Amino acid sequence: MSTHAATAVPNSQKTPLLQSRLGSFLAVVPLSIWVVNHLWDNLAAFYGGAAWQTAVTEYKHPYAQAFTFILVMVPLLIHTVWGLLRLRPQSFRPNNLAYPYYGNLKYIVQRAAGLGVLGFLGAHIWLAFLQPRLVYGQGEPFAAIAYEMHWHAPTIIVYSLGVLGTAYHLANGLQGFAMYWGLVASERSMRRFEPLSIGVFLVLLGMGWGALFALYKAGGTEEVIQERARIMQARGVTTDH
Ligand code: HEM
Repeated sequence: MSTHAATAVPNSQKTPLLQSRLGSFLAVVPLSIWVVNHLWDNLAAFYGGAAWQTAVTEYKHPYAQAFTFILVMVPLLIHTVWGLLRLRPQSFRPNNLAYPYYGNLKYIVQRAAGLGVLGFLGAHIWLAFLQPRLVYGQGEPFAAIAYEMHWHAPTIIVYSLGVLGTAYHLANGLQGFAMYWGLVASERSMRRFEPLSIGVFLVLLGMGWGALFALYKAGGTEEVIQERARIMQARGVTTDH
């Protein structure tokens, strides 16, 4: 966030406080908690396919699946619209060239990361959630995702960048949340918040990249290669990816 604004924004163009608070609340409370839990679940890849599928793609009840999807998607959609509105010319005023400060760099990286995560999520939700369930009638099988991580370079690159962008956007976004909700107000308290934000970033990155590493490793095993070939045959898919 910008701590050194070059131009004063007229009152009529400022985001109302309630709107800022609501947007950041929806991002932090349901979404961030869900993302931490999602990355944690994905770490089950270290314990093999059955453990991963139980943790990530299986639900005890069909209603639980629909409920989770709505619980994630509604705040995600609202937060996306809220974020995109803040990128309109009247709200988005980078001044990095005139004021090359750390706070201003974070302001621009936060917005770039948000756009990157949006692109990642579009691909991720379709490929890992909607396509397996709607087209093939089952949750994403471990062998399918682990195989792609190992043998299809764009998959692991996009996931690694998606996790990096998410970890940054969430950790840095916590500072905005703390500001909108009046938890930090002074320049000094903002600086004190910084190590917490960096800590959250590193933990999320470690969890996400750790899960990717476990999937990548499993994807190279004979067991996964054969299971994936069986799945593709059953789906009638002949192309390699
Ligand atoms: C470690 C990397 C990740 C892996 C392996 C992974 C895997 C998956 C899988 C397999 C699903 C489908 C779950 C199901 O069938 O119910 C899913 C859903 C989803 N993932 Fe991820 N994911 C990763 C990281 C992320 C990140 C960084 C985000 C960022 C917000 C994210 C957001 C979502 C969302 C929004 C859904 C759909 C919601 C739902 O499951 O109800 N994922 N993920």
